[in-house]
Amino acid sequence: MIGVVLGTRPEIIKMSPIIRECERRGIDYFILHTGQHYSYEMDRLFFEELELPDPDYSLDVGSGTHAGQTAKIMTGVEDVLVKEAPDVVLVQGDTNTVMAGALAASKLHMRVGHVEAGLRSFNRWMPEEINRVLTDHISDYLFAPTESARDNLLHEGIAEQKICVTGNTVVDAVYQNLGIAQKKSNVLKELDLEPREYFLVTAHRQENVDNRTRLKEILKGLEGVQREFSLPVVFPVHPRTEKRIKELGIGVDGLNLTKPFGFLEFLQLESQAKLVLTDSGGVQEETCVLGVPCATMRYDTERPETLDVGSNVLVGADSKKILEAVRSIESWKCGWKNPYGDGIAGKMIVMVCAAARSR
Ligand code: UD1
Ligand code: UDP
Repeated sequence: MIGVVLGTRPEIIKMSPIIRECERRGIDYFILHTGQHYSYEMDRLFFEELELPDPDYSLDVGSGTHAGQTAKIMTGVEDVLVKEAPDVVLVQGDTNTVMAGALAASKLHMRVGHVEAGLRSFNRWMPEEINRVLTDHISDYLFAPTESARDNLLHEGIAEQKICVTGNTVVDAVYQNLGIAQKKSNVLKELDLEPREYFLVTAHRQENVDNRTRLKEILKGLEGVQREFSLPVVFPVHPRTEKRIKELGIGVDGLNLTKPFGFLEFLQLESQAKLVLTDSGGVQEETCVLGVPCATMRYDTERPETLDVGSNVLVGADSKKILEAVRSIESWKCGWKNPYGDGIAGKMIVMVCAAARSR
């Protein structure tokens, strides 16, 4: 039996190809939702749109400090794992859910599979970097999306036989849902947008939005883009960012702030945008897969492949660099090759887990 542990928006999206493959092959599995994300548009909406089965277990841990949230997830996960005794526990990405789920499983001497292993920003100020490093070092199966992620693991002394390069399940998710999004989503019409005639934005990184100076600088850059190009800047606001904008009493001028979108709407918006500005990990990858230019509002990235192929540039939390990137858009060479695989990562991961089951 495979235990699929997830808890946040990107984990639901990137685990969906694995869940679908378990369903397709009739493999015994369960879904354990930690409840790290719980607002309808960060959680339930994705189960509905992606037609995923309801979680078998929901811990409802909610928000909290890093230690408080991690501790709650660990005790909740432990109870379920003791009851279910899965052969492999799968976690995906770099959130507190991932690290806490992996740690609880490994202390029970259960085998842990880390989906999206080996990513490194080499910036330990990011909570996600701590989660990635710790999870990789206690995992038994490291599903690295690319060769460069594999190299990071090898450099840290992780045994080669534990690592399997699979591509990223985000490619599976994009391929499985883009056609459906094009058929089902009318989001461009609803927002009165023309293809390639708007910018799309997301921002939620703790180091960006919990820092007043950085958040103000990012908003200043985005407002500048809207003024200079006279094109809509569509900005679905993550709940962390919404809370910070309110708390800090920051005014936002000229941007189309919206609620977070479902995956189908967001995919449609991404695929037709002139340029996407983001600090999200998944959005850097998806734009690369979709052939849409991306400017990442960070000073480093654990997705260097996107810089190498030329789909992405780093602009920091710097209003001038944000504007410069947008000004240079016409000279970008599109048509890069997607470095994240062929969209069969989910199948490969389930195959490895199924083999582990019979051992
Ligand atoms: C978390 C992950 C981050 C990931 C992101 C995906 C960690 C350390 N961070 O960040 O790596 O990129 O999810 O979106 O695991 N909130 C709501 N509703 C929700 C969820 C959160 O209102 O459904 C608000 C709460 O005020 C909460 C804040 O957002 O305090 C932050 O939520 P949290 O899960 O702690 O971190 P994220 O910023 O979402
Ligand atoms: N996403 C979405 N709706 C939105 C914004 C993002 O469905 O309004 C999706 C996006 O397509 C990607 C994922 O959310 O698959 C990225 O999640 P997020 O940026 O929250 O986390 P990160 O990838 O940075 O961990």
